[in-house]
Amino acid sequence: MRPFKEAIFYQIWPRSFKDSNQDGIGDLQGIISQLDYLQSLNIDYIWISPFYQSPQDDYGYDVSDYRNIDPSYGTMADFIQLVQEAKQRNIGIICDLVANHTSTQHAWFQEALNNPNSDKRDYYFFRPIKEGLPNNWISIFGGSAWTQVNEEDYALTLFTPTQADLNWDNPKVRQEIKDIMRFWLDLGIAGFRLDVFNTISKIDGLISKYPQKKGFQFADDYILNRPKGQQYLKALLQDLKQDYQFITIGEGMLIDQEAAAIMCGPEKNQLDMIIHFDLHMLGCGPLGKFDFRKGYLYSTKDFKNILHSWNKAAIKHHFHVASTMSNHDQPRAVSRFGDDHTYRFESAKALFAINFFNVGSPFIYQGEEIAMKNMKLPIEEWKDFEAKNTYQALQSMMKVPAFLAKKIIQKMSRDHARGVMQWNQSAHGGFSDVQPWFKVNDDYESINVENQNEDPHSVLSYVRQLTHLYHTIPAFTQGKHTESMLEHPHLIVMHKDDGKQRISCICNFSKKKMKYTLMEDEVVLLSNIDHHSLNQLQPYETLITLNTYS
Ligand code: NOJ
Repeated sequence: MRPFKEAIFYQIWPRSFKDSNQDGIGDLQGIISQLDYLQSLNIDYIWISPFYQSPQDDYGYDVSDYRNIDPSYGTMADFIQLVQEAKQRNIGIICDLVANHTSTQHAWFQEALNNPNSDKRDYYFFRPIKEGLPNNWISIFGGSAWTQVNEEDYALTLFTPTQADLNWDNPKVRQEIKDIMRFWLDLGIAGFRLDVFNTISKIDGLISKYPQKKGFQFADDYILNRPKGQQYLKALLQDLKQDYQFITIGEGMLIDQEAAAIMCGPEKNQLDMIIHFDLHMLGCGPLGKFDFRKGYLYSTKDFKNILHSWNKAAIKHHFHVASTMSNHDQPRAVSRFGDDHTYRFESAKALFAINFFNVGSPFIYQGEEIAMKNMKLPIEEWKDFEAKNTYQALQSMMKVPAFLAKKIIQKMSRDHARGVMQWNQSAHGGFSDVQPWFKVNDDYESINVENQNEDPHSVLSYVRQLTHLYHTIPAFTQGKHTESMLEHPHLIVMHKDDGKQRISCICNFSKKKMKYTLMEDEVVLLSNIDHHSLNQLQPYETLITLNTYS
């Protein structure tokens, strides 16, 4: 299988990818049925969001049994078949390891609740109710981070109230996680995406309050990037890497470059690559994606500065970035960063080109390759806990009026990314023969895989051409990365040069025409519009060019 530094990754959120058994929920056999399609995208690895047994309060990120497949997704035999059939196509399967927390339905948690003498009590953070709320930490999804779980106890739940944080200071917990990883590695998987790995260690004693702040606070200083968590991770991976070869992709929640440099990079024995949040936080206020006070406004320059700063940091500190334009937690890329109305094709293709020129490995999120758009969801159809809970929290804790709270959620909701995959124009978008678990986006008759499959101008065809170039021109992955026109307000220009060839991405990331002249020896390899005119770039026009040194 291709080394991760040269690879293209594709993320599947299984519930919405493809339903094979007609129960309205995507499943593993559905993924198997689309392996030829995935291969046609020239991808190397598939990261699948969790499919383990789970009550689905956070759609699988609340695991109740790490060694079993949730019946809605299929069986272990299906999974083994998936790994084998993917391997036959030179595609590796990356599992999602959710090890910061378990579902409160997990046997460990249940035992801890039911037996006061059980060693599982120390797997979690329990605090007595009679002593009052232990601290003022806020959950990532709004409300207190402490949930009353029985008559006596609060448990720390940094995400939904049914996701209880694990106590990584307990060596038994670390051993359990290691055993779980071995279990999946023995089944032949290619690696793990580690869910919020930079919160696994909390400050000793969960100290009470932020000194000068009142009310509930996001406990970033106390839960993110803590050195002990880094040591635990290092020891865990060092040990496993003696027996297995596998890729680790860390989701760094709100991670900064300094922490990324510490946790990622070959000599660090920690992670192979890192997912950061900075691009997704563009135009948001300091409190995160639902902090609307900056109006979600940003310029191309702001967008470019984030790309540039991470590209520069990755080169300087030798870490590898998992470059994403969207995922299951973000709105659709073309709606968030592009123009999903007038320039949907152009801007979606431009985002792909940029993503493939960033330093790191490009990730494609299901549906991005056909430029699926945000959903238009009335409040009754919201599914995601984060959306529903933050809607309430914005009103009760931040005193935001309901109409504004609704607008904010509709702008940034994770539900946008979770609409079912639009395969064709038949009923339910070809995702299933029956009514899917979630609304099919209204536009499925025009936006779907089948429509774009044979159309040479489609986003899908562009993606196939781009991924093909990525794998055939060594400069893409071996070349020295540079950027030019950094001060230009609308043009994003990046280069990769391996001494034999120089490839460039020249992107007019705006709705206006821009002047630009190619060099004499520069040939256009791929364009996202039909007719390139000399000395001028059309709105969102993006050229991938090649100079060959003689
Ligand atoms: C990050 C995952 O991407 C998200 O979907 C999930 O809700 C949280 N971690 C909690 O597991």
